Amino acid sequence: MKSIEACDLVRTFNGFIAVENLSFSVEEGEIFGLLGPNGAGKTTTIRMLSALLSPSSGRAVVGGYDVHEDALKVREIIGVLTESPSLYGRLTALENMEFFAKAYGVTNKSTRDGKIHELLDLFQLWDRRDDHVGQYSKGMRQKLAIARALIHSPEILYMDEPTSGLDPKSSKDIRDLMEELTENQHQTILLSTHRLEDAEKLCDRVLIINKGRPITVATPGDLRKRFGSGQEVQVGLTQLDEDLVDMVKMLPSVVNLTANKDDKLLSVSLGSEKDTPSLVRALVEYGVGVRYVKPIETSLEEAYLELMEEEQ
Ligand SMILES: Nc1ncnc2c1ncn2[C@@H]1O[C@H](COP(=O)(O)OP(=O)(O)OP(=O)(O)O)[C@@H](O)[C@H]1O
Ligand SMILES: [Mg+2]
Repeated sequence: MKSIEACDLVRTFNGFIAVENLSFSVEEGEIFGLLGPNGAGKTTTIRMLSALLSPSSGRAVVGGYDVHEDALKVREIIGVLTESPSLYGRLTALENMEFFAKAYGVTNKSTRDGKIHELLDLFQLWDRRDDHVGQYSKGMRQKLAIARALIHSPEILYMDEPTSGLDPKSSKDIRDLMEELTENQHQTILLSTHRLEDAEKLCDRVLIINKGRPITVATPGDLRKRFGSGQEVQVGLTQLDEDLVDMVKMLPSVVNLTANKDDKLLSVSLGSEKDTPSLVRALVEYGVGVRYVKPIETSLEEAYLELMEEEQ
């Protein structure tokens, strides 16, 4: 079943087109990434799908509800982590959670207490529940903001740049939490990010947008295949000297080459995957032993940068 369906969404601000004809859908239980450079229209899209900003044209259906006609219902079934979430610094974590739980209509005290405990535990904040949030670190605040977004057990979670400004460990914690949410609770997540590492590790599919326009929707794996140029291989050899490097450089299929003489390693960019056997043959004919040949996958980052270059 589809959790989100956006159809020809457009948003203009005084004639400036921030989002242009955006159509995509997100399946239930999927982590769907919205990727694009600064100003691409990610936050504007999330705000439209949150029923906080009305589309100039087009429509979107979230959890079966139209963002325009059933705005209140949409807001009930979504949880949102905004770009700069505001928490009450003078209140403790527990008080913040209680405040937002009540605001979201979690009125039954035992349900509320149970949910708050469960979430603060999940985010490893239970022991710090009585600290004032003003004294929290950025990573702790971000975790609390995500916990808050989940307080009413939303069907769909939107996260706008959840790991921005966080150190590698906190970023990983948040990625792990997102994985746990989808795996154990089948949570649907729409994630906006420019951290390609996050998108690569987490997303089932990503939509790349630039200047408000959709560029492509694909799995991270497909993107790497489609936009990674040629094939990169690492070759471990039994010996490596300057003559051998020159010989490999002269091979017609070799686009680029770096040699590490100490470790007897060659990193070779080939025109395509099909060129690998001819490279190995040439090395064997030269009389050098090939210890191993390892294909290096193009990262999503390389694919993304290449795609953005094409778009310029
Ligand atoms: N309320 C607004 N009034 C005028 N222009 C706006 C408004 N909100 C967004 N924009 C413009 O729309 C464009 C898209 O902005 P948006 O915040 O959606 O980008 P983004 O992809 O989230 O960028 P970032 O990665 O920097 O967060 C930008 O050019 C921005 O200036
Ligand atoms: Mg943004």
